Amino acid sequence: MEMKPIRYNEKTKIFSLSTANSMYQMQVREYNTLVHLYYGANIGQTETAYRIVGRDRGFSGNPYAAGRDRTFSMDTLPQEYSGSGNGDYRINAIEAVHEDGSNVLQLSYESYRIRKGKYVLNGMPAMSGTEEEAQTLEIVLRDQGSDLKVTLLYGVFPELDVITRAVRIENRGTKKVEIKKAMSMEMDFLQSDLDFIHFHGRHAMEMMMERQPLSHGIQSIESRRGCSSHHHNPFAILCSPHADEGTGECFGYSLVYSGNFQCAIEVDQADTTRLVMGIHPYHFSYCLGQGEVFEAPEVVMAYSEQGLGRLSHIFHDAYRAHLIRKQWVNQKRPVLINNWEVTYFDFDEEKLYQIAKTGKEMGLDLFVLDDGWFGNRESDHSGLGDWVVNENKIKGGLPELVRRINALGMKFGLWIEPEMVSEDSSLYREHPDWCMRIPGRNPERSRYQLNLDISREEVREHVLEQIFQILDGSHIEYIKWDMNRSLGNVYSAALPPERQGEVFHRYVLGLYQMLERLLDRCPDLLLETCSGGGGRFDPAMLHYSPQIWCSDNTDAVERIKIQYGTSFAYPVSAMGAHVSICPNHQTGRTAPMETRGIVASAGALGFELNLSRITEAEKETVKKILQEYREKETLLQTGDYYRLTNPFQNQEYALWQVVSKDRSETIVEGVLLKCEANPRIRLIRLRGLQPEKMYQDVDSGRCYTGGALMKAGILLPVTSGDYQPVKFRFIRIEE
Ligand code: DGJ
Repeated sequence: MEMKPIRYNEKTKIFSLSTANSMYQMQVREYNTLVHLYYGANIGQTETAYRIVGRDRGFSGNPYAAGRDRTFSMDTLPQEYSGSGNGDYRINAIEAVHEDGSNVLQLSYESYRIRKGKYVLNGMPAMSGTEEEAQTLEIVLRDQGSDLKVTLLYGVFPELDVITRAVRIENRGTKKVEIKKAMSMEMDFLQSDLDFIHFHGRHAMEMMMERQPLSHGIQSIESRRGCSSHHHNPFAILCSPHADEGTGECFGYSLVYSGNFQCAIEVDQADTTRLVMGIHPYHFSYCLGQGEVFEAPEVVMAYSEQGLGRLSHIFHDAYRAHLIRKQWVNQKRPVLINNWEVTYFDFDEEKLYQIAKTGKEMGLDLFVLDDGWFGNRESDHSGLGDWVVNENKIKGGLPELVRRINALGMKFGLWIEPEMVSEDSSLYREHPDWCMRIPGRNPERSRYQLNLDISREEVREHVLEQIFQILDGSHIEYIKWDMNRSLGNVYSAALPPERQGEVFHRYVLGLYQMLERLLDRCPDLLLETCSGGGGRFDPAMLHYSPQIWCSDNTDAVERIKIQYGTSFAYPVSAMGAHVSICPNHQTGRTAPMETRGIVASAGALGFELNLSRITEAEKETVKKILQEYREKETLLQTGDYYRLTNPFQNQEYALWQVVSKDRSETIVEGVLLKCEANPRIRLIRLRGLQPEKMYQDVDSGRCYTGGALMKAGILLPVTSGDYQPVKFRFIRIEE
């Protein structure tokens, strides 16, 4: 029997959301409590209400309505979206303070609505889906003691195996309500034997994977920096303890938001687990007057019964086709040369022209002028906020430089950092109150700069106007939008004291508005966002910029770990990755040019080195890297990505594989990290092929069945010297 993606059984009051391989169930139970029943493999028609058993647990109280029934407790039930002050002492999903100062929220089920197509959020990016691709379920809950209406939003994408969540909160009463916490989702599990995988890091060392079993108490990953941060990515996985790349149950949660976030997990007294994810409640509050609405950003959830590899494929497919802007879906990207590590701030128009010219000679498509072209920006002490070209450095002005570089047949791209201001700038001198600053306190600086208060429209407009003038004056086809400090001194001079808890979020909404305005005006612009590398590498930014600068660390060997971690949620086409000079500027390490090329090619390829200073042999290698990248770019952008090794465990070699969706072609690439004397045999097993089909190794001409490649494996080459590149390409032979 064909199953509808969203069903409601009027008799049992059970909602069932199903995708090709997953199912999600919840039930309206006693006293209109919305209880979470199940998320996991698609189990067909069975309803799972039998999993819920009430137990009388000491100190777990009972709602008044339950009378003398001591087995019904909010403290022990798996819930769909838990309120506060209602006898549930676990981490919760929502908190609010009412006008009388009380903070209780008892959410009861009121109604539901199912409709075709995917819901949209106001002013925040979210996955999109047509009526054929997705359905929406809205469940309305209402607080028993006030007129606060909480609508839970579910987007179901049956073919993608994705369910999205978001929440809309509306004050339907006349009394003010102050929202203190509004998570985007909650998920309660009836088990705690799960591993928690997350991605921590620091500047220039983002996305370090960590895995640990859940334990009693609360653990969380979070950012209070105003941006999603280098320090934790807004992505988390819970999985069965034995789960690996190919087997085991995995649940992925990815927050489509670029500001403060929290993903908190609690294992409670009964060994059940609650996960909540959304905007961090730190310094967060939102005042809702009569009729006012607050929306919490989207979480994209995926379930895989076939391990972490399949989980990643779900996210990659979802983000590639339903999150990034339509014109970049399956669209080839220009291969760029960026001047940052070549010149830093020390350049003039002739130096830039020469970099572009050599880039063109090598076959590159786009020249990117990085930091230092504007205002009095001679170093990172000054100039931010003055988006006017510095004609002492670029004589003849930007239009002339762009014209000359375009005449070479190169596109032109420009770096900007619109959210910041230097104290030594005209903008700061004219509008000192436009930066974030707490009255009566000295601001905290970071990289000598201050955050502009882009929650204010006049600030956004002023900055955008300057940028539009630059864009109107020259043929600029790419923008690198950078952000080089965390938010500090968080305070908006434009808001009253009781609304200061809104500033973090209003900042993020302001950022999205700026990006929307920029792309509305220049729809064909390729945007690459960046925050000192991967400080704001999140799905919301991916919506605006199909590629994000992955890390300021351009060392190929370190990048293996960074790109490995990034690949769990994000497709390779999202990862800005550059070939840079050796010894590497961040680590001092030297690796062969071809190896640097292999690693950067497992991303959105670019170059960031002085191509006129490399040897003739290296120039030939650059041309080869480029040619091979162009040959495999479609495969990289559209295929399934497999992590063949874990660089946190395997110090000897790092390998990855990409298989075309039709299984007709695959590449295996990577780096032999350490050479050894009298080398051992190293066999590597491929994944994702058709076992009974024949595949030919393009280099050797040798043929193997897919089964042989996946079960018997292939021999890794014996090489000499550390950090040697490996690459294989197999094509299916059509019989
Ligand atoms: C940080 C970025 O990640 C770098 O690539 C470069 O653009 C610098 N900022 C410029 O200040």
